[in-house]
Amino acid sequence: MVKLAEQRARWDSRLIFLFAAIGSAVGLGNLWRFPYITYKFGGGAFLIPYLIILLAIGIPILILEFALGQKMQQGAIGSFRKINRRFSGLGFLAAFICFVVVAYYAVVMGWSLIYMLGSLHAPLPWSGEPEKFFANNVLQRSAGIGDIGSLSVALVVALAAVWIAIFFCVFRGVKSIGKAVMVSMPLPFILLVILFLRAITLDGALAGIAYYIRPDFSLLLSGELWLAAISQVFFSLSIGFGVLIAYGSFNPLRQGITRNAFAVALADTGLSLLAGFVVFGVLGHMALVQNVPIEDVVKSGPSLAFAAFPQALSLLPLAGIFSLVFFVTIFFIGIDSAFSLVEGVTTVVRDRWRRIAVPLVAFIVCGLGFISGLIFTTGAGLYFFDIIDHYVNSYLLVAVGIVQCILVGWVYGAEKMRNYINSVSRMKIGRWWDACIRWVIPLSLGILMAMQLITDIRTPYEGYPQWAQAIGWGIIILPLAIALLMAFLPSRPSPAAQR
Ligand code: TRP
Repeated sequence: MVKLAEQRARWDSRLIFLFAAIGSAVGLGNLWRFPYITYKFGGGAFLIPYLIILLAIGIPILILEFALGQKMQQGAIGSFRKINRRFSGLGFLAAFICFVVVAYYAVVMGWSLIYMLGSLHAPLPWSGEPEKFFANNVLQRSAGIGDIGSLSVALVVALAAVWIAIFFCVFRGVKSIGKAVMVSMPLPFILLVILFLRAITLDGALAGIAYYIRPDFSLLLSGELWLAAISQVFFSLSIGFGVLIAYGSFNPLRQGITRNAFAVALADTGLSLLAGFVVFGVLGHMALVQNVPIEDVVKSGPSLAFAAFPQALSLLPLAGIFSLVFFVTIFFIGIDSAFSLVEGVTTVVRDRWRRIAVPLVAFIVCGLGFISGLIFTTGAGLYFFDIIDHYVNSYLLVAVGIVQCILVGWVYGAEKMRNYINSVSRMKIGRWWDACIRWVIPLSLGILMAMQLITDIRTPYEGYPQWAQAIGWGIIILPLAIALLMAFLPSRPSPAAQR
């Protein structure tokens, strides 16, 4: 693994790059976000848009980001600036998204820490009622967003522990974690296969799985569904965050690109789909036991994985041990994503302010991340979470995706980039890629975003009160304004651009 240095740092090998990219893609997005978004949008109804978006948008952008970094030999801001000076604000936006996402990402890891400790208890503290345990004991959830409640002490402590771990990863470099990743990467696959075998043999599981894979074409006209699929693809593949551009930049100029991109997409999607099978199998079982339709078994939302997985785990023999291993795994697949998100922020800060020492930057970013995360440890935490996740991932992230495609597709030239990609890759891409980058992605994302904008203005998201919506809007408008200012104010050339 590498650190950014004066001279361009290098991955030790192509395989290490691949592992790092998979490590960044594979994370809580697969085990936690994918199942609950799929559940929220009706199981099978979500899967088709998801796969279409993956192929038409996710993979082309993945190729674009790897290629951009590798061609320019610079991180996000530097790469954008090399194409056109006015676009450095785009790199700032990406870094901002990294910060917001890691602020709540760390909280989810904190939840898993609490479950880790809980696994040591016999009987398991959530046995029989994981959903109640999560709402009452972990979150101490309040009745609504207006009722902030108080900070949950356990969650604050867990969050602090997570941030300390992240800080040491970023601060000490990624070498040791690089090794940990080699172990922690196959582990989730193995565990999920075990859970899958347990889940499908539960009574009622097949009905749950049928709900998961049975397509529902009547919902395909919902713009919201498609936008949710887009945010999930971006989130899960880690595209639109600038991080993969930096990863690509540590590759030698002439290294194959296309096959790596497909490998990352395959591993990431495979894990998500597998997690879905487990969660929906369990939901089917719970539906049978509670005698309710599958869509009513649990409250849809970020709590899903923390209800379904503990349930599945508690039905295994040696439930405590399996639970422990499972939550340790969640923690580990989360941490490499978390620190690469933090590096997405620190790299940008360091590019801009060269003189600040690296550990100090890491310390400030981690400290601010912890403080920002405190809002999610209150009784209303889950509601804030829902709002911020919605606004940031459906607007900011998608906006970065659009502008990035326009920048490479039109300003730099899609064909020029494709020629470069094909000149270094054994697996060639055709003109379809140009079409995706220049037309399909900007147009479809633009239209869907506009539709969502109208919906959100007409009907407040999930019925939250006005002031809460205002927070969501503020979180996207403020950084957008800064990025625009960066485009039109004269700026001093930064040292990064002169390298
Ligand atoms: N893809 C990660 C996941 O699925 C989350 C993530 C989003 C991420 N953007 C990132 C990780 C940037 C590293 C870098 O959990």
